[in-house]
Amino acid sequence: MPVPLLDLKAQHARIRETVMRAMMKVVDDQTFILGKPVEDFEGQIAALSHTRFAIGCANGSDALLLALRALDIEAGHEVITTPFTFFATAGAIHNSGAKTVFADIEPDTFSLDPAAAAAVVTSSTRAIMPVDLFGQIAPIERYADTMPRVPVIEDAAQSIGARRSFDGEWRMAGERAAIGTFSFFPSKNLGGYGDGGMLVTQSDHLAMRLRRLRTHGAIKTYVHEEIGYNSRLDTLQAAVLSAKLPFLAEWSAARRAHAAYYDAALADVPEIRTPAIDGANESIYNQYTIRTEPRDALQAHLKAKEIGTAIYYPIPLHLQQCFAYLGYKQGAFPEAERASKEVLSLPVYPELTQSQQDEVIAAVRSFFGR
Ligand SMILES: Cc1ncc(COP(=O)(O)O)c(C=O)c1O
Repeated sequence: MPVPLLDLKAQHARIRETVMRAMMKVVDDQTFILGKPVEDFEGQIAALSHTRFAIGCANGSDALLLALRALDIEAGHEVITTPFTFFATAGAIHNSGAKTVFADIEPDTFSLDPAAAAAVVTSSTRAIMPVDLFGQIAPIERYADTMPRVPVIEDAAQSIGARRSFDGEWRMAGERAAIGTFSFFPSKNLGGYGDGGMLVTQSDHLAMRLRRLRTHGAIKTYVHEEIGYNSRLDTLQAAVLSAKLPFLAEWSAARRAHAAYYDAALADVPEIRTPAIDGANESIYNQYTIRTEPRDALQAHLKAKEIGTAIYYPIPLHLQQCFAYLGYKQGAFPEAERASKEVLSLPVYPELTQSQQDEVIAAVRSFFGR
C-alpha cells in the first residue's frame, strides 16, 4: 500500500461540509478583501498565541518581510538567522535590504544556536530571526538572555500552536518574540486552500505599522505615510482557516502520537537518530525528521516501496548560489551542513493509519536488516 508523505484529501474529506459552508458564505456575501472573516480569524490566532494582536497577510514569506519593515530594518543593517531553514527566512532579509548574517544550529534540535548567534552580533545587528523548525519552538528566552537589546522575529511558519515552557509558564509560538510569523501554506499543520500568513505581536505600535504596511502603507484610504505592500490575508482563506482551526489541537496531538510510535519502533536501530525534542518543548511535529548517514540510499529504498519522504533541506542557505555574495564557504557551519546530508522526513500527517505507519516502520527497519 503506498504511503504518501502528506494526504490533504484525507483531511478535506472529513471537514468538507464545514469548510465549503464557510467558503460559500464569503462567495454569497461577495466581500473578498479583509472584512469580518479576516478580523475574526485574527482574533482567534491572537487568542491561540497569547498575543494582543494578530495581523493577517498574504503568506509566511511576506510576514517575515513585513516584520523586518515594521522594525525599520533596511540597507546597512544586519539580521542574524539560521542557514538550516526554508529559503524564505533569509530571502526576506535580503529583500528588506539588510545583510543576512548566518550562525550555526544546535545539532540535536536544529534550532539557531544562541551562543553562535551572540558571537556574530555587531553594532549593525538589528534583529535575530530564529526558526521553529519542524514544529518545535527555538529557545526564544535564551536569545533574549544573550542579546537583550536585539529584537526577535520568530519564524513560526512551522509551529503554530506549539508550546515551550519557561518563566514557569507554557509560552506559545510567537508569544514572546517582538513579532512572530505564521504561514498557512497547505502543508502546514493549519493549512489554507491556497497561500496565507499571519503576524502576532504584543506591541500596539508594531501592530499599527504591520496593518499599515500590508495595505501599501496607507493610514486611511489613499493617504500614504510610507510605502508598503499589497499583502492581505485573502478573505476566502480566512474563512477556510477559521473553519479548520477548531481541529488544530486534535491534529497536532495525532502527529505527536504518531511521532511517539515511530520513536518507540525505531529506538533499537542505532543507525537512526529519531527527532530530539528539547525537554521544554511540546512540538506540533510539522515534520517527523530522522537523521541517518545512508540517507539517500534509505530514501531510494522507501521510494521503491512507494513511501513518501522529503529532505528538508538539502542545501544549507549559506551554500546557495544566490547567497554567494555573502562570502560564506563550505565548512562555515558544520552542524547545518551535516544536518542537510542526514535528514529525512517521514509521513506524520494526522490521518495516517496505524497500518500505514507500520508499513513505513517495516520498510525503514528492513533497509537496516532488521
Ligand atoms: C520556516 C519557514 N519560513 C517561511 C515560510 C514561508 O511561508 P509561505 O510559504 O507561506 O510564504 C515557510 C513555509 O513555506 C517556512 O517553512
